[in-house]
Amino acid sequence: MPSLSGRILDSLRDRHSVIIGITRSGKTTFASHAIESLWARSTHTMFIDPKHDESFAKLGTVCNTVMEVYEQLLLKNKAIVFRPPGSAEERIESLDRIVELIFQLQRSAGFKRIRRVIAIDELQLFVKKGNSKAIEMIWTVGAGMGVVGMAMTQRIQLLNETVWSQSDNKIIFRIEDRVDYLKSRNLEHYVNQLDFFTDDMNKYWFYYTIGGGTWKKHKPVPINMPKKPRRLKLNRW
Ligand SMILES: Nc1ncnc2c1ncn2[C@@H]1O[C@H](COP(=O)(O)OP(=O)(O)OP(=O)(O)O)[C@@H](O)[C@H]1O
Ligand SMILES: [Mg+2]
Repeated sequence: MPSLSGRILDSLRDRHSVIIGITRSGKTTFASHAIESLWARSTHTMFIDPKHDESFAKLGTVCNTVMEVYEQLLLKNKAIVFRPPGSAEERIESLDRIVELIFQLQRSAGFKRIRRVIAIDELQLFVKKGNSKAIEMIWTVGAGMGVVGMAMTQRIQLLNETVWSQSDNKIIFRIEDRVDYLKSRNLEHYVNQLDFFTDDMNKYWFYYTIGGGTWKKHKPVPINMPKKPRRLKLNRW
């Protein structure tokens, strides 16, 4: 299975992204693979994990509070995972505060040159009445300051207009948005490929663009397996 090309990774580092797909379609797996590949391209990452999923602890130092995140930002930790608190209000407020802190730091000496991708899983959980201060900030002024967003959600319809229109990178797994709606988003070309993407043989394939109006099919990214215990390795050799 092919990893993402350098061209795609550069685009994920430099420009905002949306990753859309129904549950279990492969969004978070794709984002994890992208994040791990970006570390090698001198990019700092922050994975916002409202589901507190243990399997994503590999994506960085796990922080449970805004203060813990701030501490890691000051240490210039390249890989941070933030698990926001459970209530909707606290979750939204904590992301707002973290994004404010990141923007403040990006303006100060010693932090200006840092490039950071902020990946937000289940983006809809951070939006209240169609709005989010943090998300608006990232997707409107972030890129100019080296802060790029990567949003994951289940339906195109759940995305606010800014996130959809400001994301040059669009990655679509299986979706359930209605055909009429897809057409209204100028995605007729995707509708024409629905047979391919709904075929179980092509599970985890995705349809993507990195801007410029060109869309392509892409094979599933490899799943990065946890390191095997040493014992097994010795047996094999
Ligand atoms: N590229 C892939 N190759 C093989 N298996 C995959 C791939 N992507 C995802 N899977 C499998 O599908 C499962 C669901 O993937 P993932 O958690 O990435 O989906 P998701 O779209 O984020 O789902 P959710 O909406 O529930 O968070 C994974 O546990 C993994 O086993
Ligand atoms: Mg997921």
